[in-house]
Amino acid sequence: MAEIKESFIIRGIEFNNRVLTASGTFGYGDEVKTLTDVNRLGGIITKSLSLKPRAGNPPVRIVETAGGMLNSIGLANIGVDKFIGEKLPYLRTLSTRIIVNVAASSVEEYCSVVQQIDEQGGISGFEINVSCPNVKEGGLNFGTDPKRVAEITREVRKRTQRPLLLKLTPNVTHISEFARAAESEGADAVSVINTLVGMAIDIKNKRPKLSTVTGGLSGPAIKPIALAKVYETSKAIKIPVIGIGGIQQWEDAIEFLLAGATAIQVGTMNFIDPAGGEMIVDGIKQFCVKEGLKDVGDLVGTLKVDTSTSVIDSWR
Ligand code: DHB
Repeated sequence: MAEIKESFIIRGIEFNNRVLTASGTFGYGDEVKTLTDVNRLGGIITKSLSLKPRAGNPPVRIVETAGGMLNSIGLANIGVDKFIGEKLPYLRTLSTRIIVNVAASSVEEYCSVVQQIDEQGGISGFEINVSCPNVKEGGLNFGTDPKRVAEITREVRKRTQRPLLLKLTPNVTHISEFARAAESEGADAVSVINTLVGMAIDIKNKRPKLSTVTGGLSGPAIKPIALAKVYETSKAIKIPVIGIGGIQQWEDAIEFLLAGATAIQVGTMNFIDPAGGEMIVDGIKQFCVKEGLKDVGDLVGTLKVDTSTSVIDSWR
């Protein structure tokens, strides 16, 4: 196959290709090592880490819906100490990039997690989750207030020189306002989008299916929303947008690149096939060969739009 440039750079760090796995869908990389070659991915984004271990929400916390999945995990995770002791040694052996997703219920907690992991090394950057829909403290309270997003970005930025991504929620009117807040305080990229607040009901017992009533909707059902948010965001900021939301096959990934995403994350698809990311890497490359492109980056933001009829372009 013709030589195609697949890599891209964020804050001086080179990622081998533009396909990463989304937080919460790929564990800490070791759980899936017999199912796929993780080193063929551009990067792995870990399950959210908080300072102390968290048990998460009570069951039921995952429900299938039409074209998607609702979850309310509640940031269940092993905490920083166990991550450093039990996960980091394996992650250090990988050649793919490791981005640690961080969730917290205070600015101080975000800073403490980032600082402790940054000092250890062996990882390539951080994705700050200001958008978990399933916790009462932090989560959407932070992610739906642009001043809080700015403050968290500013404080975390002081703790690391590694790439800093802010993962934004779509549960707002204009996501670009939040992307601008992150950019202005030193974020290197934004991940767009996290899950949408949703609900499912069991009509037999007349109860919500999830213990927390609402949860985060992901999967193909949200792809059109994600594409619109990526397009809006990429027009509003100069830093890269990492597109995420319902990507299941390479064609979906191409749509996100055209809409303005510099790279993409594969999430819910990993529960169907953890090797889905690898197939998307191959598919993107083959598409570029067919299109006669030398660099996958030549696709980014090349959507042909008639701005005189585009409604979203009038929002700015
Ligand atoms: C959880 C966190 C998220 O950011 C999300 O989108 C969905 C679920 C969680 O751990 O509950």
